[in-house]
Amino acid sequence: MKSFALRENAYAKVNLALDILGKRADGYHDLKTMMASVSLCDYLEITLTPCADGRERFAAESNNPALPTDDNNLAVKAARMFFLAAGVAGYEVHIRIEKRIPVCAGLGGGSSDAAAVLRALSSRFPMPESILESLALNLGSDVPYCLRGGVCLAEGRGERLTPLPSLPDCHIVLTVPPVRVSTAAAFQSVVVPAMKTDWVLLTDALRRRDIAAIAGYMKNSFPDVHSDARECLRRAGALGTVMSGSGPSVFGVFHDEAIANQAVRKLRAIFLNTFLTKPV
Ligand code: C5P
Repeated sequence: MKSFALRENAYAKVNLALDILGKRADGYHDLKTMMASVSLCDYLEITLTPCADGRERFAAESNNPALPTDDNNLAVKAARMFFLAAGVAGYEVHIRIEKRIPVCAGLGGGSSDAAAVLRALSSRFPMPESILESLALNLGSDVPYCLRGGVCLAEGRGERLTPLPSLPDCHIVLTVPPVRVSTAAAFQSVVVPAMKTDWVLLTDALRRRDIAAIAGYMKNSFPDVHSDARECLRRAGALGTVMSGSGPSVFGVFHDEAIANQAVRKLRAIFLNTFLTKPV
C-alpha cells in the first residue's frame, strides 16, 4: 500500500452571541451561543503512510512554531482518537497545519483543526455520525460545532446543536488584540450576568436576513478583554461589534465592502492581526 494525503480547510468561528447560563456540577458552564464560520482558515494536509513494523505514529508540523507537534496538539489527539475508535492501525500519520487563525484568540482555531482531522479521516474510513460527535466532544466543547460549521445555535457545553439559516452577505472584520486568554481562566472568573441575549429577536433578524438588526443584537457574557478594539471598529463604521468567545478577538459586521476594507486598514495600524473575512 502506498501513502496518501487528505486535505481539509479548518475555518475560524465567531460567536455572534454568547450567554453563560450557569455553572454545572461537572465544572463546565451551560451556554447558549450562536456561532458562525468565517472564511479565515487553517489548511491541513494529513499524510498516511503504512508502516512496515505495523505500529502507528502520530505527529504534527506547522508554520507556527508555538504549536505543539506531539499529542498536546489537538489535531494529533483527534487523529489518535479516531484511529482507536475506527479500529484502524498500522499507519504513520503526519499532519501539516498551515496556521492562519491566531491561537488562543476565541476563534476556535485548535477546535477547528481537530474537527478538520475528524472530517478528513471519516471521508476515508467511514464512521457513524454519533461516534464522530462523541469523539468531537471529548476533544473540546467547540469541536462538535466545528465538525458541522455554518450558523448554529449551540447549547449545553456547546454540543447540542441546532443548525440555523446562513448569514446574509456581509463582511466581518476580525481583530485580535495582542493578549493571550486562557478559556479555562476566563470561565473561572466570569460572573454570570443578568442581561442576556434576546434570542427571539436575533433569530428573527437572521431569518429575515437583516444584517443591521443581527449586528445590533450581538452580545457576549464575557467582559471585553480589550475595550479599545471594539471602539475602533465602531468608529470605523461597523454595524455592530462584539468579542468572540472568551476573547481577546473582537469583530465588527459591515454591509459595505469599501467601508470594511477601510476599517481593516485603520485597525491594522493599531492591531497587526486584523482580517477581512466573509461568512462561509
Ligand atoms: O471544552 P474545552 O476544553 O474547550 O474547554 C476549556 C475550558 O473552558 C474547560 O476546561 C472549562 O474550564 C471551560 N469551559 C466551561 N464551560 C464550557 C466550555 C468550556 O466551563 N461550556
